[in-house]
Amino acid sequence: MISIKSDREIELLKIAGNIVYQTHQYLKPYIKEGITTLELDRLAEDFIRSKGATPSCKGYHGFPATLCTSINDEVVHGIPSKRMLINGDIITLDICACYKGYHGDSAWTYKVGEVSNEVSDLMKETEEALYAGLSVIKPGARVGDISHAVEEVANKYKLGIVRELCGHGVGHNLHEEPNIPNFGRAGYGPLLKEGMVFAVEPMLNLGSQDVCMLDDGWTIVTYDGKPSAHFEHTVLVTKDGYQILTGE
Ligand code: MF3
Ligand code: CO
Repeated sequence: MISIKSDREIELLKIAGNIVYQTHQYLKPYIKEGITTLELDRLAEDFIRSKGATPSCKGYHGFPATLCTSINDEVVHGIPSKRMLINGDIITLDICACYKGYHGDSAWTYKVGEVSNEVSDLMKETEEALYAGLSVIKPGARVGDISHAVEEVANKYKLGIVRELCGHGVGHNLHEEPNIPNFGRAGYGPLLKEGMVFAVEPMLNLGSQDVCMLDDGWTIVTYDGKPSAHFEHTVLVTKDGYQILTGE
């Protein structure tokens, strides 16, 4: 069952989403050569708590931090550490916050200084895939329409689509039904209805689609070592379309 949110739940989801958005804006100027991912994590946790929210990831299935910090070939769930960012890196900050029991979830890939043209294109194209996926959302559309729209953009640019990880419903739980794969058939899958809330999150690789997990039990990396980008918004299905909850 995909839950339809009440007006009160939608209010709280909007606040949670906005806190996640503000956290991204707050962290952006700190994403520079020389900062460690652990320092970014501390800043994020303090900021989220200062807004009356809690970091959803911390303690989630034992995850040890507020942020997932995934650098270059790391796709998702990188653990903040003493690793320093260097010029030419890309880093995905995946931020989740919980406000009065309701979650917001948004990931964004950032440049550290100057990055190569091919990596810059990977970022642009993955962001394009996110907005293509969102653009089809309205009551009466299906999850497969989102999946297909993301897949078309990934295929256009010949990027590897990570298949093991999906978008998802968001609400009282960080991960709810349905799964939203980043590939699929238009016209298939669960029906979208007004009041549903989803996280859409393409993870696209410059090389092959294959990924594996590091020994830390969390970090997913590309198998071929090529970079990966990740863009995610939490959105509400409205009467005639959608509203981004983790944006401006
Ligand atoms: N936004 C991440 C996801 O949807 C949240 C991960 S929380 C973690 O997978 F604890 F698993 F890291
Ligand atoms: Co997510």
